[in-house]
Amino acid sequence: MPGLRAPSDYAQEPPRHPALVVNSKEPFNAEPRRSDLVSSYVTPVEFFYKRNHGPIPIVDDVDKYSVYITGLIGNPKQLFMKDIWKLPKYTVTATLQCAGNRRTAMSRIRKVKGVGWDVAAIGNAIWSGAKLADVLELVGIPKCSHATPSGGKHVEFVSIDKCKEENGGPYKASIPLSQAANPEADVLLAYEMNGETLNRDHGYPLRVIVPGVIGARSVKWLDSINIIAEECQGFFMQKDYKMFPPSVDWDNINWSTRRPQMDFPVQCAICSLDDVNMVKPGKITIKGYAVSGGGRGIERLDVSIDGGKTWVEASKLQKPGIPYISDSESSDKWAWVLFEAEADIRQSTEIVAKAVDIAGNVQPENVEVIWNLRGILNTSWHRVHVRIGHSNL
Ligand code: MTE
Repeated sequence: MPGLRAPSDYAQEPPRHPALVVNSKEPFNAEPRRSDLVSSYVTPVEFFYKRNHGPIPIVDDVDKYSVYITGLIGNPKQLFMKDIWKLPKYTVTATLQCAGNRRTAMSRIRKVKGVGWDVAAIGNAIWSGAKLADVLELVGIPKCSHATPSGGKHVEFVSIDKCKEENGGPYKASIPLSQAANPEADVLLAYEMNGETLNRDHGYPLRVIVPGVIGARSVKWLDSINIIAEECQGFFMQKDYKMFPPSVDWDNINWSTRRPQMDFPVQCAICSLDDVNMVKPGKITIKGYAVSGGGRGIERLDVSIDGGKTWVEASKLQKPGIPYISDSESSDKWAWVLFEAEADIRQSTEIVAKAVDIAGNVQPENVEVIWNLRGILNTSWHRVHVRIGHSNL
């Protein structure tokens, strides 16, 4: 397409921060170190995890770049960036989390397929752009529609990157029209991240942001939007990012039995400590993040320093100086909270964290019960070990 092109090799990748932990070089998949992740409420762009399935597209001329909106609608349209910029600009603070976050730990129980991730395939950014609901109105779809007169019920986002899983075709995904056309769902066509023009890794010039939903649906380098009757039939909707029970393996899997994963469940991780830490006896600070999908706030964050026998409640914070209240207007409903607790460590032990969201959903105790062959949604209690000895902190 004019303006934006997709290379077939990795010769023209953008520069990246050297402190990122690279989980796969080509395609580039990387996450920040745990301590870097929780050093600020808003994740700096360079430390925001990068999840790609092919080489990063290149913009030759942003003025020539456009998005086609077609499918089961009366009047298809081609929108250029100048048309998107003309729409009201919204700013939404939202946490994006890859469904594969914490996959490495799930693989320790029984091997799973997929790029390994520690606990930092997640980040919290300030996204700005047009609301998808406003864009859909331009093609005659009223706000809060569930279907178009010609039977469109899903909104498919198609990119231009070349993905192996799609046999060299582009990455694509869809969300229900009822969510896309609902202004309250805050789905954005974003052109800025943290107040700056999106960078190449994160979808320049235009990407979708679907708050509260696994990152896989937030399609980068948007090429077209199709209004379709059934959900998108692409690989990443139908043959990936679905949650199976522990009994399903590669011999008996039937992908069509499960729905594509949308909202992510309640999650937390300790980021001030590694899996195993040597500490001196005394006080330590336990810091991390907690987040839930679907806009559900975090009601409670429990920390245990005796492997889960007894618990204390950690403090939770989004913006400095403003108390975090899970269902308050002043809280960022799509964003994580950072938590903190002090503990006096006298002996070697296991430190555990678990979060509870406003619906009372709580993380499962063990990874075994949620093990699945693709290693997605590892939301089990997060556990780290401290050993008394020469400190590495
Ligand atoms: N969009 C395109 N076009 N190609 C991709 O590989 N990866 C998806 C999603 N959108 C992907 C994409 C996945 S799995 C995730 S988790 C998020 O982008 C990651 O976004 P980020 O790299 O900006 O953190």
